[in-house]
Amino acid sequence: MMTQIHDIAKEIAAYQINEPSDIEKFRIRFLGSKGLIKSLYVLLREVPNEQKKEFGQKINDLRSSAETKLDEYKTSSNKSSESKWSGDLSRPVGELNLGSHHPLTIIKREITDIFNKIGFSISEGPEIEDDWHNFSALNFPPEHPARDMQDTFFIQKGDEEIALRTHTSSVQVRIMENNQPPIRTISPGRVYRNEAISARAHCFFHQVEGLYIDEGVSFADLKQTLLYFAKELFGETAEIRLRPSYFPFTEPSAEVDVSCTICKSKGCNVCKYTGWLEILGCGMVDPNVLESSGIDSKKYSGFAFGMGIERIAQLKFKVNDLRIYSENDIRFLNQFKSAL
Ligand code: PHE
Repeated sequence: MMTQIHDIAKEIAAYQINEPSDIEKFRIRFLGSKGLIKSLYVLLREVPNEQKKEFGQKINDLRSSAETKLDEYKTSSNKSSESKWSGDLSRPVGELNLGSHHPLTIIKREITDIFNKIGFSISEGPEIEDDWHNFSALNFPPEHPARDMQDTFFIQKGDEEIALRTHTSSVQVRIMENNQPPIRTISPGRVYRNEAISARAHCFFHQVEGLYIDEGVSFADLKQTLLYFAKELFGETAEIRLRPSYFPFTEPSAEVDVSCTICKSKGCNVCKYTGWLEILGCGMVDPNVLESSGIDSKKYSGFAFGMGIERIAQLKFKVNDLRIYSENDIRFLNQFKSAL
């Protein structure tokens, strides 16, 4: 009996804890209901009565030393897992490093919000388009030189030639094909043109185009809508002027300038000392366009307009190089945090 007690005491002293599961193994081996110490108590029954007290005392000591060891193992393992989570979990989080919206997103939202307020819904469509929606339905006959106004990326898909849309007017064709007037919608989105990349041109950019079709829509409605837009975007003092222009899908067509907000129309290098900045193209939807999308041009008339988001961003943020918008330079993007 004495040697057994000794052996177990030695084993307890030499026990190695290498991983958390060893602690439970230790408990089972020494203190479990079928453990070594329990078996000593069973053996104690065989011990002559006069020695029972002495041996009983020794086994009790052995058990409490095993229990103390177990407690020590448990607290030290709790401490080591605490050290992995050394932070104070109840502490309030510090300032988060938030990202910023892209300047083009900021401007796009500003523009769409302005038109939402007067009842224009937002419509979107595919960036890969067929000839019909990008050109033919918009009164660009095949081989018509006006197609060269927008250098196009063509893609051969089997026998069919498809294109990257050169303007979001293609979305408006889809809207006209699927809805009857009144139609009041704006189409923001990315468009593509086959141009050499420079500070002033890029092979892709972003547009917001608008369309309003109903009975009795007039050029005066167009002009007033654009004046409202210019004042909302550039401030109450903004003025607009319309210059005659040409687009195959509108007749009459106009180019719209806004009074230079940078020099208050006094003349600066941004407005090239004219006091005016060109911001969009517009016109009354050509009856041919209405008819080819299934809208009765005798009953309905409408206006359309289109603008480049980069151009407006350039005026609002005074960023003159178009390339910066797609370079993902964090030093540039970080500057728009306050504009959220
Ligand atoms: N779609 C024209 C462009 O991309 C803009 C425009 C839209 C002009 C609607 C007039 C009317 O250049």
